[in-house]
Amino acid sequence: MTEDQFLPTETYSSQLEGSVSVQSPSNIALVKYWGKYGDQLPKNASISFTLSNCRTKTTLKYKPKSSENAVFEVYLDKTLAPDFKPKIEQFFARIERYIPLVKEYDFIIETTNSFPHSSGIASSASGMSALAMCMMELEQKLLSKPISNEDALQKASFLARLGSGSAARSIEGPLVVWGEHSKIEGSSNLVGTQYPYEVHPFFQDYQDTILLVETGEKQVSSTVGHNLMHDHPFSEQRFQQANDNLSKLISILKEGTIEAFINIVESEALSLHAMMMTSNPYFILMKPNTLEIINRIWKYRRETGSNVCFTLDAGANVHVLYPKKEKDTVLAFIKEELAIFCMDGSFIEDQTGMGATLL
Ligand code: PMV
Repeated sequence: MTEDQFLPTETYSSQLEGSVSVQSPSNIALVKYWGKYGDQLPKNASISFTLSNCRTKTTLKYKPKSSENAVFEVYLDKTLAPDFKPKIEQFFARIERYIPLVKEYDFIIETTNSFPHSSGIASSASGMSALAMCMMELEQKLLSKPISNEDALQKASFLARLGSGSAARSIEGPLVVWGEHSKIEGSSNLVGTQYPYEVHPFFQDYQDTILLVETGEKQVSSTVGHNLMHDHPFSEQRFQQANDNLSKLISILKEGTIEAFINIVESEALSLHAMMMTSNPYFILMKPNTLEIINRIWKYRRETGSNVCFTLDAGANVHVLYPKKEKDTVLAFIKEELAIFCMDGSFIEDQTGMGATLL
């Protein structure tokens, strides 16, 4: 696969005015991406569960540009959101070579998240994948010969990646790999691809309850964090560790060996945060309540034999992962013992899902 294959196949045959709406979910990585190079290319392969309830809905209103330079406005929850513009401008600049319509149309981008505003849930994966899907849908309308659905999904993931790396993994589901890996056929640095091998029924409909330990803006953006991996003393070992963990996951996912799964997933979460704590400048995104929750999950698992485990994103919130058959008991445990460590006792119940959809 090369970048050139995502260049436009023809010049647009028509000029249209209208709108397109897409909803796209967030995802939670089991093997983490942390460190990039070039044009948003990952230093190691990663794999994630696509989520279902944590999603962004975006409507893209388009019309042929009315002045020399195309313009756009962004609305979040019906309110003008100029803060979002720089990130989207950067996204448009990165994708225009592949989808020149961004220079030819004026846009109004209306976006809402299903999860509470400023909940500390990363909205970049769901937001950028939703916008990339809208752009792709519009391009398909403008072509006299639209590309196949499969190719369009691949190009949407390619575009989403240029907005936010992890967004490449939100277009499809329920398990998506991003980053070239010698043992995973079809894996690529350019796009997210559906995990191609057998998955034990145990990992189907996996549950993710997101405990909101801290809401609001992150103190250190993931862009800064990724950049700190350039001169990081442990970076090469970390990239190797992630790729090795993904190799191990192949048989674990097939055989349903849950203890080994838990070991890798929790180790990945702590390794990600260890990278933050050992970069220069160093930083800590976990909070005391993050650690309290982790310790209580470990205690609960020891005492009950439950298969519940945790993972973390680049923040203080805890993703509690467990098989569907444990839903009632784990939710009761969360409500009784973990919710007190969350902001206003709040958490979001989610589970694996199938990716972006046109509305
Ligand atoms: O997509 P970005 O650039 O915001 O990076 C996110 C990286 C992590 O969420 C911390 C890990 C991952 O693989 O999703």
